[in-house]
Amino acid sequence: MYVTGQTQGKIFTSLAPMRGLTTRHFMDIVCDCGDPDEYISEFLRVHPTATVTNDVIDLIKNRKSMADLSIQLLGKEPEHFLRIAKILQNYKIKSINLNCGCPMPKIGRKGVGGTLLTELNTIDDIISIISANINIPISVKTRIGYKSPQEFDIILSHLAQHRLSAVYVHARTVKGMYGEPVDFEYINIAKAALNCPVIANGDIKTAQEAVNVVKKTNADGIMIGRAAIANPWIFRQINELTSKTKIFVPTGEDYLNLIEKLQNFPTKFALTDFQKTSSLKKYAIPIADFVDPLGGFPHCIRRATTPQDLTDMCKNFFIKKYGNRHMM
Ligand SMILES: Cc1cc2nc3c(=O)[nH]c(=O)nc-3n(C[C@H](O)[C@H](O)[C@H](O)COP(=O)(O)O)c2cc1C
Repeated sequence: MYVTGQTQGKIFTSLAPMRGLTTRHFMDIVCDCGDPDEYISEFLRVHPTATVTNDVIDLIKNRKSMADLSIQLLGKEPEHFLRIAKILQNYKIKSINLNCGCPMPKIGRKGVGGTLLTELNTIDDIISIISANINIPISVKTRIGYKSPQEFDIILSHLAQHRLSAVYVHARTVKGMYGEPVDFEYINIAKAALNCPVIANGDIKTAQEAVNVVKKTNADGIMIGRAAIANPWIFRQINELTSKTKIFVPTGEDYLNLIEKLQNFPTKFALTDFQKTSSLKKYAIPIADFVDPLGGFPHCIRRATTPQDLTDMCKNFFIKKYGNRHMM
């Protein structure tokens, strides 16, 4: 089944950073499926003894995609941001992206990520020290408040004082984690307050939703995370929808090939079957939930205990049931 696109302008798209998921190898898969305009790395911790890891250098140097790449940093000490930014200066990256949104309690307790939204002067200091000394654009990924969206105005007034290349707004509060409804009204508010591109993020699941969000919010682009795990063709589909071309709909075989690529991720250490299964499930469960939301496939995948189990289940579902038929 193909859907014909409507007349829309091109939409700027970005793959959201997702720790443990958006590795270089996953980015290579997304590249094969159809690049977003930009990738942002999962966060690199900044602390007194931190450095730019081999994984980050490998990502910068060896990824398949030619699309822009920003490197995300998470920390709180301006002088250590500067130290890391000086190293990053040696590489070609689009921006240093400051993580002001991570809601995980073990991160928050260290005063970094989303907790930075309670320390706006620290955000100012981090951005200022990098801008004053380093010739790499700075972007910020934020939520709309720590506890309440009423904090957003003051957050924006701080961000507006800096020259930023973009602000990515995950339209929930930090305390709202992933359960609170996304409120895209705040994207309009950010647009009015900032004079840099504002990118909307949160719960965008389809190409049509991406178009709707841009129309509704006037955002300069959209960022997609979890939906790109379940459907890495989503960026291509957005481009097709906005350029009036036939929208690619993956078949059962396309999905099985995707699972095989995910299974063949190189690892630094030999993994046990249990570890291999768990690591594949991080991708396979969102895929199963997406392609068979009301059926039994997600339940089977959750119960798989070995990589072979998981492969057999996927073959049964994607090939026996769908084969070269479209999944949607
Ligand atoms: C497993 C996981 C890991 C994440 N890691 C990061 C991260 O390293 N940096 C970051 O800014 N956001 C991180 N996020 C948040 C996403 O970038 C994104 O803002 C969020 O998932 C909402 O977008 P979505 O609904 O399109 O997934 C993570 C989210 C998930 C689910």
